[in-house]
Amino acid sequence: MRRLKVVSRTVALIVIMTMAVVFLTPAVFTAIAVPNGFGITVDFEDGTTMGFEGRDEQGIEVLTVTDEISHSGTYSLLTTNRTKAWHGPSLNVAEFVQAGAQYTISIMVHAKTPDVSQFRLSTQVGQGANASYNNLEIKNISVSDGWVEMTGTFTYPAEEYITIYVENDELNAEFYIDDVSFITEEGVVFSHDASLPSLAGIYRDYFLIGTAISRADVSGPRFELVKHHFNLITVGNEMKPDALTTAEKGTFNFERADAILASSEDAGISIHGHTLVWHSQSRDWLNKKANGDFLTRNEARANMEEFINTVAGHYAGRVISWDVVNEAFQTSVGSFSDWKDVLRKGGTTNEHSAWYGAYTNGANEAAGESGADYIYDAFVFTRLADPNAVLYYNDFNETDKNKRNAIAEMTEELNEQWKNDPRNTVPDRLLIEGLGMQAHYWTDNLNVDDVEDTIIRWISTGAEIGITELDIPMGRYNAYKEATEDELLKQANFYAELFLLFKKYSENISRVTIWGIDDATSWRSGGSPLLFEYDGTEKLAFFAVMDPQGFIDGLYFDNGPVPDDEANPDIEPHPMPAPEPIVPEAPAPTEPPVDNNVPASNSNTWMIILIAIGSAVIIGSGVIISVFLIRERNEKK
Ligand code: XIL
Repeated sequence: MRRLKVVSRTVALIVIMTMAVVFLTPAVFTAIAVPNGFGITVDFEDGTTMGFEGRDEQGIEVLTVTDEISHSGTYSLLTTNRTKAWHGPSLNVAEFVQAGAQYTISIMVHAKTPDVSQFRLSTQVGQGANASYNNLEIKNISVSDGWVEMTGTFTYPAEEYITIYVENDELNAEFYIDDVSFITEEGVVFSHDASLPSLAGIYRDYFLIGTAISRADVSGPRFELVKHHFNLITVGNEMKPDALTTAEKGTFNFERADAILASSEDAGISIHGHTLVWHSQSRDWLNKKANGDFLTRNEARANMEEFINTVAGHYAGRVISWDVVNEAFQTSVGSFSDWKDVLRKGGTTNEHSAWYGAYTNGANEAAGESGADYIYDAFVFTRLADPNAVLYYNDFNETDKNKRNAIAEMTEELNEQWKNDPRNTVPDRLLIEGLGMQAHYWTDNLNVDDVEDTIIRWISTGAEIGITELDIPMGRYNAYKEATEDELLKQANFYAELFLLFKKYSENISRVTIWGIDDATSWRSGGSPLLFEYDGTEKLAFFAVMDPQGFIDGLYFDNGPVPDDEANPDIEPHPMPAPEPIVPEAPAPTEPPVDNNVPASNSNTWMIILIAIGSAVIIGSGVIISVFLIRERNEKK
């Protein structure tokens, strides 16, 4: 089944020798290119920035080589004077990249100020309209943490411009970096097994099977995999407000997203729009003044209408559905009597929404107006801009009882309001027609019964259900686990149980979208959450999705991965049983946060790589020396 993905022994030997040279040579150089073109390490020990530049073309960020602190040797690189979230030190690595090969990127980061902030290790592929920006790792780092490794892996397409960089939403963030490495595992080439049945084909009679993609995914072997298994895509980042507009009020940029959509359309893959109104990855001009204060309710509404008319208008006829409002509710919802009380309110942290803040500014409370009104407006503007799109509300921690109910109650109330809205020209049509379960779960605390309870409660609103961002990393929030055999099996079983559940309710489920293609490029890569390995190899989880009943019955282990239709009548569609009536729940005590979207660190990977490289160096050197000695002896004879 598994393909051998290793280049010839000669190349392997060259790599080992190269590694030996790189790791046994004291660091006194400019950027070291591994001679066979397989990587680069940078330690600033020659007192220069060694190719690192600020991301801003105007050179706004100040990069200083400093001996204030260092992770190894004497020097590190300090970045100051950042004025944009995306500002940071960046290195162009294009000349070291082999298309289709997988690279491991590692940078040591030391925060200087503020005390704690969120860092992103990212990689940019291509420039201008063709650029894609991919987060490799997202991590909160505080000054007292000292040096912290940020690491991730990425498989690159053929591109002339490729950078790795560190960014931070806090504009006043200053930080040091040191000991940067960008190294490929030799010969790893991305490919999938095209002889396996298509997941989209298997579930054709149940629901669409989706994946989240970026610009880097729409060509080459990654897109071959997408075309084989998926009939729906969500663009992971490039259709968010911060990607479709610039910092300047009223300016839009559709080129990047359009390029992704064009490839998907050519391949006959449907597109789900993500997302129009969100507190995150948005633009300040939509709801804030230049000084950071909230706009008034009327100003924000006018901006929202313009934004939605332009964006949903641009994509009308091209997307089948939209996540109109994303994550309006608090991360963890306690017991409540009015759903409006548990929304993200106006404020400046990520637990707040500037939309709510602006809509509060000028609200006539006596007339029943509140910050919450932005949600209804967003849905109405989108309905009017693209009447053919199915409109979704989308959120996470949706299996939490309180949050599930809050979302359902909001849906029911706003749909009721729409019934009497003079702009509603199709009386029987709901306004919020879809509810998106992001389904960002964890192997340590996923309870499939909770998932079912949410499906049942949400069906009772009359809306269809979308599973919109499914992933199941190993471990729990802030504590990823190693991908041991046991964990991989546990993860696969969860996928099997979930897909059986989704089939059971398939009459009400429109799509199941998995949030990304492979573990290495997932936003939660530390927990290996997806169906494919970094090189496209199908994981146990894939086979669990391919034939969930067979997997649970152990057929996979008896017969191998090909589904056995006779042994598994479940492969045929069957009607969905009527959902059980909902018994209203008594308000529950506030529960501690069960989950959060923020991925945690991947601490052990680098140690393992170092140990592996160390062993390879020792064994490699031994082999080389022995070969050399034997030759010498033979020659002397
Ligand atoms: C994530 C992307 O996958 C990351 O690349 C990005 O850095 C942050 O956003 N809920 C959502 C998605 O609705 O848009 C988020 O996607 C994951 C959580």
